[in-house]
Amino acid sequence: MSCQTTGQTTVPIAESQPPQAITTAAIFPPVASPDEELSAGPARLPLLPYDYAALGKAIDAETMKLHHDGHHASYVKNLNDALKDEPDLQKSSVEALLRNLNDVPENIRIKVRNNGGGHLNHTIFWQIMSPEGGGEPQDEIAAEIKETFGSFEEFKQQFNKAGSDRFGSGWVWLVRNPAGKLQIVSTANQDNPIMDGAYPIMGNDVWEHAYYLRYRNRRGEYLNNWWQVVNWPEVNKRSLVSLNSSKSS
Ligand SMILES: [Fe+2]
Repeated sequence: MSCQTTGQTTVPIAESQPPQAITTAAIFPPVASPDEELSAGPARLPLLPYDYAALGKAIDAETMKLHHDGHHASYVKNLNDALKDEPDLQKSSVEALLRNLNDVPENIRIKVRNNGGGHLNHTIFWQIMSPEGGGEPQDEIAAEIKETFGSFEEFKQQFNKAGSDRFGSGWVWLVRNPAGKLQIVSTANQDNPIMDGAYPIMGNDVWEHAYYLRYRNRRGEYLNNWWQVVNWPEVNKRSLVSLNSSKSS
């Protein structure tokens, strides 16, 4: 038995496991999207739900095009390439693959982890932003943020700090943790919070490819501006899905 360190915890990895079909959809709520099947295998690049220039308040069009058509497309291609000799695993959702990495053959496990995580993270990312985004959170998520963090401003500060403190590449997330509570976490590389049993409600990409063309090395400025495009209705929907799931489990 060996170990791999995720962004938050150390996860034991078995030396070898036979490949098998992985099905966890009946146990966990949908993570890639509550409304659409965007995580099925083989992986497919989802359409960007707005124009490249639509998030210009925070992210420039060239970055959006490179990010979606280049980086995200590569994660999808590399994930499918890694699974080319594993017909059973090709049928697994990316969520199931990431929750059950021990069931992925060791020789492709890192590729599946990095590229599967990249596919899932970016699929979520496009949806939780909107040209009509920004402003204050609404509905149930607004009340729960205030209850958990004291105020929206305090929540933003803690979220931005976690994003700034992430050394190198990674993500900052608002998750519902296994205890059913809201929590800010940061993950390294392309790891996703589902690898630690949490549900990712919203996340910001702090890889340099997400901001460097416009912001250069000013990650903090990018983190501040990003709130102008947060799609609060979608974030609220994701929060309710995760809340209902934690109550029923
Ligand atoms: Fe990215």
